[in-house]
Amino acid sequence: MFSEQALPPLQPLISLKHVNHWFGTGEERKHALKDISLDIYPGQLVICTGPSGSGKTTLLTMLGGLRSCQDGSLKILGEELNGASKEQLAKLRLNVGFIFQAHNLMMFLNARKNVRLSLELHDKYYESDMDLLAEEMLCKLGLGDRVDYFPANLSGGQRQRVAIARALVSRPKILLGDEPTAALDKESGRTVVNLMKELAETEKTTIIMVTHDNKILDVADRIIIVEDGRLAGKEEEEAFVSKMRDDSH
Ligand SMILES: Nc1ncnc2c1ncn2[C@@H]1O[C@H](COP(=O)(O)OP(=O)(O)OP(=O)(O)O)[C@@H](O)[C@H]1O
Ligand SMILES: [Mg+2]
Repeated sequence: MFSEQALPPLQPLISLKHVNHWFGTGEERKHALKDISLDIYPGQLVICTGPSGSGKTTLLTMLGGLRSCQDGSLKILGEELNGASKEQLAKLRLNVGFIFQAHNLMMFLNARKNVRLSLELHDKYYESDMDLLAEEMLCKLGLGDRVDYFPANLSGGQRQRVAIARALVSRPKILLGDEPTAALDKESGRTVVNLMKELAETEKTTIIMVTHDNKILDVADRIIIVEDGRLAGKEEEEAFVSKMRDDSH
């Protein structure tokens, strides 16, 4: 028998305490995140859902160091980011992969080079391995025969898969996805979600994904709901999850 006390305490990888965020000033000032406290642990796959305009993307970009924390405490990988310098945020971003709602591919680079870009940001990869690693990841996403294609000649779903390959290829510690499967058909959506789950399990990648797709809720270790800038409480979370389970039957 293991006694609970014998286990080392698990530290959260991401920890928010009373985080607030505002956009704009004066009359136009919008209170976008309200008193958010949240701990996320290594290897967790967290699904974030909630109504349009409730603050999900704002929260996600803050978790990835794309915007600074104005009020409260935001700790990622043990580092306090309230008041962080641009250099600190840039360094943090090397550990974070993003998949945005809009894919943000470089239109003048083919699929392989787009994926390779993410490896070039790191100094841990050999120049000579980069093309192969990029191609392997594109193959995993079913794009093995499209590595030389430019984004203009790919479908919306294929472009989204290139963006996903780019985010996954450097094996980030944290992976953030904003509706990563929205542009995909059911089958490719499943492939992407399974790949993410595998990454969470084998590499202890922490994944936070915004989605409205009820069909993929089953992969989540935790579901958080953002409503009007606030996190819903545990009871609401549980009620939401059981309703979704019922609906999907
Ligand atoms: N750059 C910005 N300047 C001003 N207001 C903003 C900005 N970005 C977002 N907002 C406002 O903050 C609120 C939260 O926006 P956010 O994009 O986080 O919502 P969301 O939950 O991701 O919505 P959706 O599901 O539609 O993507 C919205 O009311 C939005 O209008
Ligand atoms: Mg959004």
